[in-house]
Amino acid sequence: MKKARVGVLISGRGSNLKALVEAARGPDYPAEIVCVVSNRADAAGLDFAAANGIAIRVIDHKAYPTRETFDQALHDHLVSQKIEIVALAGFMRILSPAFVAAWAGRMLNIHPSLLPAYRGLDTHARALGDGAKVHGCTVHLVTEGLDEGPVLLRAEVPVLAGDTPETLAARVLKEEHRLYPRALAMLARQLQAKTST
Ligand code: GRF
Repeated sequence: MKKARVGVLISGRGSNLKALVEAARGPDYPAEIVCVVSNRADAAGLDFAAANGIAIRVIDHKAYPTRETFDQALHDHLVSQKIEIVALAGFMRILSPAFVAAWAGRMLNIHPSLLPAYRGLDTHARALGDGAKVHGCTVHLVTEGLDEGPVLLRAEVPVLAGDTPETLAARVLKEEHRLYPRALAMLARQLQAKTST
């Protein structure tokens, strides 16, 4: 079966990107990571992608007068790479309604909380502050509302006595790296099933 062509958008470290790239090496994995785009030239994930033979592109949001013109450049690049699925992996930009509409049902995001709890930033500190006993991560389809789209998969981790935001983040991140490749494969298979019927 033809592998879905995936573009990954990052802004930083890129550990989820790495997990996706490693999973996509499997011969039966239904998607391939074709390109990586970062809005920041200093994103460490770009080095990993380049070292692994993946096309990289920096599209600096500061070079564009508006969110819409930046998003258009992003969109044009993804289209030029014949991308079928967009995976947000620590991409720290809010996307415009037009961009979200263009990729509806074909764009996913990983978020470090059990959505709908703790949308937005500082999820681990907020969960600890609330005395949460269980925390985790979610992969969801991207819609206009921040961290609001339909959930594809979630993974739970326990909150342990003595946890700090850092120890909790590390426990969640390990699960993110298992969850994101599974969710991407799920979406790729769903889209393939749709186009082959
Ligand atoms: C992850 O915690 C992810 O859930 C959130 O941003 C972080 C990105 O980390 N959206 P990395 O760049 O993938 O290492």
